[in-house]
Amino acid sequence: MRSMEGYDNLWMPFTSYQDFIDYPPLVIKNGEGIYLYDKDGNKYIDGIGSWWVSIFGHNNKYIKDAIKKQLDDLEHVHMAGCISTTTLELSRKLGAILPTGLDRIFYSDNGSTSVEVAMKIALQYHYIRSENRTKFVSLDGGYHGDTLGAASVGAIPVYHSVFQETFKKHLYTDAPYCYRCPVGKDASTCNAECMDSLETILKEQGDEIAACLFEPMVQGAVGMRVYPSKVLKRIFSLCRRYDVLTIADEVAMGLGRTGKLFACDHAEHVPDMMCLSKGLTAGFLPLSATIVKESIYKEFCSDYRSERTFQHGHTFTGNPVASAASVATLDLIAQYDIPRSLEKITGYFHKEMMKFSDLECVGDIRVLGTVGALEIVKDRKTKEKHAPEERFTFKVARKALNHGLIIRPLGNVLYFMLPYNITEEQIFTMLSGTRKSIKEVLDDSCNS
Ligand SMILES: Cc1ncc(COP(=O)(O)O)c(C=O)c1O
Repeated sequence: MRSMEGYDNLWMPFTSYQDFIDYPPLVIKNGEGIYLYDKDGNKYIDGIGSWWVSIFGHNNKYIKDAIKKQLDDLEHVHMAGCISTTTLELSRKLGAILPTGLDRIFYSDNGSTSVEVAMKIALQYHYIRSENRTKFVSLDGGYHGDTLGAASVGAIPVYHSVFQETFKKHLYTDAPYCYRCPVGKDASTCNAECMDSLETILKEQGDEIAACLFEPMVQGAVGMRVYPSKVLKRIFSLCRRYDVLTIADEVAMGLGRTGKLFACDHAEHVPDMMCLSKGLTAGFLPLSATIVKESIYKEFCSDYRSERTFQHGHTFTGNPVASAASVATLDLIAQYDIPRSLEKITGYFHKEMMKFSDLECVGDIRVLGTVGALEIVKDRKTKEKHAPEERFTFKVARKALNHGLIIRPLGNVLYFMLPYNITEEQIFTMLSGTRKSIKEVLDDSCNS
């Protein structure tokens, strides 16, 4: 019987009470490279990079040493009136790799707050310019975090419907969901028509809209829905045509994830604002950045008497230890020539992922850079989904533990987020563990 010590005080994220009781959390003691080890020493591949953050695996020595060194000097200083030497260094190094035109970095401490900051900057920017623009437009299926503002621009019923009344004001386009295209196109006929809905919204209400928010190239939390760069290009061109600011939420896909340094690079466009987090410290410490164009920053330039100051900050804004982790992460990105050096491993990954097409239950295979997803269906021809109560993907993830693999499905989607230093052999082991787990669940359902 499991010990209740500690458990009685816990409230787990995204976990029902009953699952918490029936499936107690795996207690992890340590990590090394792509592996996590539980308290009994069992070894698991971390197939989802601990919620997509561990871009260089666990316990990376270079980053760890940078943190230790920082701890000898300074753990924290507030950032209004002071700044640590390390946060300054980070700003210089991050500034050097940002897309041209994105210059001003505002720090906070997680992905949701980076989105909150972007939204508030957009609102205040228009306020300063005496423009009555207070709505946001975002994409159906989007996820931008769980704080109230960030959640208000998300559109995934399981996370957002309870709070929808509060979010009434905002606008949502069709989903760029190619496997189940909302406008009935396929890859050969698609001309980004899912964004006709954006055009209609912008045409009718563009002058009330503070900004358009989107996850470039991959809608992550809804099920790693990869969409074509032509859709992203259309979002940019429509926003430009109707003079609406763009906020690219690169919290999950920035810093090499999609095979480009920034996901917006696939469309060769620079957004007006960009949000980064997750990989920014390679998973060592919470940190995020909202980066804006100088032309936006300029509107905020005045003295203390005006309403132009951005009255926003977090206690841990620009924390020096998180900054040290981030400086070290950016060093590794440069040293390992990310994303160029990822080509070999992602080529192998994509090839291996495609082999899942021999399983009838795999309806769609989506891959981009180090992201891979399998959408599981009950019937491949009709694309019928498993009923939620069948918990197909949940069962696969449970089985995967027995094969030394940690994955966590998103609805009916199984997915992987590779660390950048994974080997072909490790990818092979991870994917075969998944295949075995799927087959076991299929066998169980045949036998039941
Ligand atoms: C695209 C995107 N934006 C924002 C967030 C929120 O980040 P956090 O969980 O750090 O608040 C996430 C988290 O998964 C995300 O995927």
